[in-house]
Amino acid sequence: MTSHATILPEPPAASADASFRFPRHLLDIASLSRDDILQIFERALTMREMFLRPNRWNTMLAGQVIVNLFAENSTRTRSSFELAQRRLGMTVLNFTAEGSSFAKGETLSDTVRNLEAMHIDAIVLRHTAAGAAQFVAAQSDVAVINAGDGRHEHPTQALLDTLTLHELWRENGGTGFEGRRVTIVGDILHGRVALSNIHAMRTLGAEVGVCAPPTLLPRGIENLVDRVFTRLDDAIEWSDALNMLRVQHERMDRGFFPNVREYSRLFGLRHRRLNAMERPPIILHPGPINRGVELDSEIADGPHSVILRQVENGVAVRMAVLALLLESRGR
Ligand code: CP
Repeated sequence: MTSHATILPEPPAASADASFRFPRHLLDIASLSRDDILQIFERALTMREMFLRPNRWNTMLAGQVIVNLFAENSTRTRSSFELAQRRLGMTVLNFTAEGSSFAKGETLSDTVRNLEAMHIDAIVLRHTAAGAAQFVAAQSDVAVINAGDGRHEHPTQALLDTLTLHELWRENGGTGFEGRRVTIVGDILHGRVALSNIHAMRTLGAEVGVCAPPTLLPRGIENLVDRVFTRLDDAIEWSDALNMLRVQHERMDRGFFPNVREYSRLFGLRHRRLNAMERPPIILHPGPINRGVELDSEIADGPHSVILRQVENGVAVRMAVLALLLESRGR
């Protein structure tokens, strides 16, 4: 914690619903109910209100030890988890694949068993393998939070994406996701954000579409979503919001489209297209952005983009998830 921080002794108000029990781990969105998600939103908004005040530190999880185990690169997820943990007074340990004994061949299982022997309370895990968080949770007593597992899920990303839209669509008496349409555009095949977003947005009542070249759409995707688009123009016309995903070159074992320029021409969002619309869709992006590929800078930094609002909400959502998980275990 920084030396100039002021410690707030009072924790934020506990969840209004005393019967609410958070799951033991946060492994995916598919296991969360609508009520679970709305409880996380409620708590996240309290957390955000707290950290937007000048005195932004709290001691509610003081004494709890958390390990951030990142076996894959990250900027936003890792830093916002760490900020969330420090803002709640937790003791934080950070590991990366390069800086730990992973690099010497130690297994994930042995790594976790050794950390548990040091009496930790929770693990935040990012890993290249789908199912890694489930694997750890199945053999561990501590709370496990999935910070992205291969192509599978990225639950806290979907929670911060949906919180951002939920707030915008609740303004001026709006009903939230009911009757709204969201399309996830880009690398649906390799992106874990896509699956978590589909589950979260449909659970909240939206119609969800995907838009990508056919080679970047997983088989059976039509069973999970309301619409499948292979032309960006059709998706733009249909949608109240577009979540623009990055092309995940690092997960591709072959060419899925002729070249980046061709992809960008067909699936990249251009500001001229949005400017021509009377009511352009809201633009989300989980980051990192490839400017000029999935969208141009005028859109990323323009009035319809909520990208940095997503990042701010990421800290609040992660504070909420940590508090709910660890409080629920303490009951
Ligand atoms: N959105 C997201 O997961 O970004 P990072 O890879 O930087 O954490």
